[in-house]
Amino acid sequence: KRHLISAADLSRDEALLILDTAEELAQVADRSIKKLPTLRGRTVVNLFFEDSTRTRISFEAAAKRLSADVINFSAKGSSVSKGESLKDTALTLEAMGADGVVIRHGASGAPHRLATWVRGSVINAGDGTHEHPTQALLDAFTMRRRLGDLEGRKITIVGDVLHSRVARSNVLLLHTLGADVTLVAPPTLLPVAIGSWPCSVSYDLDAVLPKSDVVMMLRVQQERMNAAYFPTVREYSRRYGLDAERFARLSDHAIVMHPGPMNRGVEIAAEVADSPRSTIVEQVANGVSARMAVLYLLLGGSEPAIGKEVP
Ligand code: CP
Repeated sequence: KRHLISAADLSRDEALLILDTAEELAQVADRSIKKLPTLRGRTVVNLFFEDSTRTRISFEAAAKRLSADVINFSAKGSSVSKGESLKDTALTLEAMGADGVVIRHGASGAPHRLATWVRGSVINAGDGTHEHPTQALLDAFTMRRRLGDLEGRKITIVGDVLHSRVARSNVLLLHTLGADVTLVAPPTLLPVAIGSWPCSVSYDLDAVLPKSDVVMMLRVQQERMNAAYFPTVREYSRRYGLDAERFARLSDHAIVMHPGPMNRGVEIAAEVADSPRSTIVEQVANGVSARMAVLYLLLGGSEPAIGKEVP
């Protein structure tokens, strides 16, 4: 079985196949064809150990639009509260016959472990501070729809990179697709191993913004924050927030992205988030097409067309 655990699991051809498939599926939906029979008879289990609004709903919508049977599991209210392990929870759900298991978990590496225990394909829907590959796919899909080919495009990702699985997956995927990524963050909110990531780093947002085709703002993850990393919300917003003044200095074609959920007034001003050049709501809609493409390419044929085996 093949799995999608990291954005690095995808070759350039596989990533482009997912984006092209997502485009075709989006066009089918635009023609008011809401449901396709492609995954009839397959079962997708959504296994959410951590809170989610967008990812959980869009995986459910994606699987249902492909006619799969969907089982939704949320750790809250389950036997996890009685101490049941991830392995026993996964094996219980697998006994119900899962062809695909979508997992979100607070522990980095949980999807990888899961892939060694279950027979179905595992899709990482966000693990700790590690990765969120389908977010990167929907982000790349959104950029392509707005700007065309991503080769040589300048993408700036700003904020709490240290805690961001979205940033890591985006850097890996965008590098695969030939884009130039620059991360802008306070030094305390960058991972120690940042030197090994395929991107540039800057501490000066105002210098980078005018050259950017895309500005992606990251959520300040207060729930994972140690006070030593983070001065004050006001100081952070002043140095790294996308306010109306900075927004006015972007080039005319540039777009503003945010994976959500947002802290309005912290990393992004409300008027910027709500502007026509913000793709935040589009990203959510595009998430369904991108996840349909992933489910279809992993589970639809006799052999998966994408992903990586886990030994
Ligand atoms: N972007 C994202 O993963 O949002 P949720 O946490 O709401 O799924």
